[in-house]
Amino acid sequence: MDQYVIKGGNPLYGEVEIGGAKNAALAILAAAIMTDETVTIENLPNVRDINVLLQAMEQIGAKIERVNAHKVKINGSFIQDVSVDNEFIRKIRASYYLLGALLGKYKKAAVALPGGCDIGSRPIDLHLKGFRAMGAQVDIAHGLVEASADHLMGTHIYLDKVSVGATINIMMAAAMAEGKTVIENAAKEPHVVDVANFLNSMGANIRGAGTDVIRIVGVEKLHKTEYSIIPDQIEAGTFMFAAAATGGDVMVKNVIPKHLEATTAKLLEVGCIIEEFDDAVRVISNGRLQRTQVTTLPYPGFPTDMQPQMAVVLGIAEGTSTVTESIFENRFKYVDELTRMGADIKVEGNIAIINGVKKYTGARVNAPDLRAGAALVIAGLAAEGVTIVDDIYYIERGYEGFETKLAELGGKIERVSSERELQKFIMKVS
Ligand code: UD1
Repeated sequence: MDQYVIKGGNPLYGEVEIGGAKNAALAILAAAIMTDETVTIENLPNVRDINVLLQAMEQIGAKIERVNAHKVKINGSFIQDVSVDNEFIRKIRASYYLLGALLGKYKKAAVALPGGCDIGSRPIDLHLKGFRAMGAQVDIAHGLVEASADHLMGTHIYLDKVSVGATINIMMAAAMAEGKTVIENAAKEPHVVDVANFLNSMGANIRGAGTDVIRIVGVEKLHKTEYSIIPDQIEAGTFMFAAAATGGDVMVKNVIPKHLEATTAKLLEVGCIIEEFDDAVRVISNGRLQRTQVTTLPYPGFPTDMQPQMAVVLGIAEGTSTVTESIFENRFKYVDELTRMGADIKVEGNIAIINGVKKYTGARVNAPDLRAGAALVIAGLAAEGVTIVDDIYYIERGYEGFETKLAELGGKIERVSSERELQKFIMKVS
């Protein structure tokens, strides 16, 4: 199994280019099958979750032409089958977007119940509630969610909880339903806006994305478009925290600074200098970090997907910090791993109490999920000695060329696939 091996202690310096947003791309790819014309999508991140979704779309008959690693052409006119199930699609949570897309276009869909990162129970009841409110019959059988409607009707939907997935999924189905749908208490994340912009570029009529009320007037047909996905705010934030933790100076390029405000605010609080440009953010850290408090919240609050990376920074900040996780109940699984690297963290319910230590010490750790895995890599880069990160499969679901980008910034990191390669790296860096 492949691993990352890291020799810590080198501040990161230089520039890094951020790719397209994985979570926007997953929904946009699914939505692309809603027209029979060819859709071109650019700035696609070349990561595992994206490739799994494209394969699943191909399996049901969509024509996928991968122009290059970051550009794809999709034609949904050849779709024969509205049943999506294979062992890979069950592993990605965003497979649920095919429900909204297929239900909107064909008025029926059957999609394997989603998996995804194990960060707590992740129901999809709100998605299903939305589809039912539009008149669909929704059942769960044999591990599949089956939805069908004679007429998919626009309606008024109040989401009991702010959910990115439910907002986008309902928005997709409603884009091709009859009449007007209003989604209240909608998620406001940048990728919700990106998906709405994408659908509108195909001829949908969606207003209010980015606020908590989204209004959609269904249309009968959608048409071709060419669309470029927004930059990935979580990838960007990960590099910003890596700069902070290692006491580095990194220009994070191809970002929308507005999307990074919550991250930027916390980095300022811990003592970093931040310079903002039109499409870049520079993070300068002298390695002396201060304590702070953070609570994860829906956008524009601090993103839950950045919580582990933030905790790693606070683990080596002076004083006692707290991190409160308010979105998912099981998102502190990396704490045991970080403790093995010398962190002093106590978890009480959904709060991590972090007593900053002077430094981490290298150890062999497991990536428990995508973002926590990236956070452990950051810890390894900041640590004294060698860190080995196992289960990097998770990290590759969402980060393209993670180790290459970090190495270009001066991080001593390599992806190895054998004990021999591992020992070679250790010899080289010691
Ligand atoms: C998306 C992101 C994920 C991110 C999360 C929150 C994708 C593929 N994943 O996940 O990386 O961490 O947003 O920003 O885009 N909930 C329900 N019922 C539902 C749906 C959600 O109770 O039907 C709850 C969840 O358990 C969670 C909260 O609502 O507590 C928010 O979840 P949601 O925003 O839906 O997350 P995802 O869309 O799954």
